Amino acid sequence: MNIATILNNKTGLQLSIVANVLTSHRKSLNIDVDKTMNELTQGLYRAIDIARHAPSSHNSQPWRVNIISDDKSQLIAAIGFDSTRMLTTLPKLNDEMFISLGVFTGFLKKTLTAQSIEAKVQWVQKGYNIIQITLTKAAINHAYYFDESLIIERHTARGPYLSTGLSNDQKYTLSESMQGNIECRFIESLAEKQKIKSLVNDYAGLDFANKAVWAETYRHIQFANQHKDHGFTLKHLFGDVSSIFEAAFRLGFHPKNHFLYQALGMPNRLAKGLADLMEKTPCFFALTIKEEMPKAFYTTGLSLADFMYQATELGLSINPVSVLLQNDTPRKKLESLIANDRKIAFFARIGIAEHQGIASARRSKESICSTYI
Ligand SMILES: Cc1cc2nc3c(=O)[nH]c(=O)nc-3n(C[C@H](O)[C@H](O)[C@H](O)COP(=O)(O)O)c2cc1C
Repeated sequence: MNIATILNNKTGLQLSIVANVLTSHRKSLNIDVDKTMNELTQGLYRAIDIARHAPSSHNSQPWRVNIISDDKSQLIAAIGFDSTRMLTTLPKLNDEMFISLGVFTGFLKKTLTAQSIEAKVQWVQKGYNIIQITLTKAAINHAYYFDESLIIERHTARGPYLSTGLSNDQKYTLSESMQGNIECRFIESLAEKQKIKSLVNDYAGLDFANKAVWAETYRHIQFANQHKDHGFTLKHLFGDVSSIFEAAFRLGFHPKNHFLYQALGMPNRLAKGLADLMEKTPCFFALTIKEEMPKAFYTTGLSLADFMYQATELGLSINPVSVLLQNDTPRKKLESLIANDRKIAFFARIGIAEHQGIASARRSKESICSTYI
């Protein structure tokens, strides 16, 4: 007997009882759907709130999340770039944008998994939309150890590191973070480190000497009384500095004075300072890829998210040395030194920092997720 027959056979009172039963059944279904959607949406916002602490080149935080649909049981979001925040002055900076997006997505996925939300990630790369993420409630609760402070309290440490190297166990744990075709190589031999030091000495001034590149970096410096949600302060670069130093730097290194600081040989002095720091580094690591494709840089970022999480748990700090990768000559020299026919996507110092890094500005989750409600 179908519902229509039942209804035809009922009195008015019975009819209204059946109708009420059907309505309340539909209501409870809606409540379940609303509950799932609410959990997924809140779970995503929570994940964005953690992932926004991901490192990014110049602390540009070039990411954007757009919720594009939410039906009964799943929520779909597009993750990609906020074009106004991307670094553009060198082709290699575009690769760094993909790495930065990968780290952000890696932290996002980790935080979602910890909330028992399954995240299926699909590479779409259409315009500024790069991946699509489909969220569903996991059938079972994941017994998954997750400590969000390892993401929030990780900071880049740019000062000297202790001479203590990494143990084999530590290197093994970190290498396990690699995904796809990404490989990790640690560089510890004195001979290789000496060569890296001379590369930095010879080439680290290049970006500073390029007016457009320096102007882009300068825009990311947050001087006193500026309240930027991106970039870094002079304290992040040099440690504590006096207000006189800051005022002199702000004026003296303004891109409009490019000719002057070039003439004073500042790019070379800066390079030498960085090269000296290379000597006070027990270990470097390189993440290498087979081909220089956007997806390979993104996967480097995904691997880096896990690598950084593990490194922080092990009490290790990281300081990327991207200046060696941003220009062709030093990059090729470094590749022939350490990469065995592979390309280097990311290169950094790693060790126990003498002084922990400090927190830098971050965008709010509302500014990242355009459909925030
Ligand atoms: C792809 C990439 C490249 C980076 N390159 C450099 C670099 O060359 N030198 C440096 O000091 N920091 C570099 N950083 C670190 C960022 O400046 C740093 O993540 C950002 O300022 C936010 O600070 P935090 O890491 O302390 O949160 C890089 C980060 C990423 C993700």
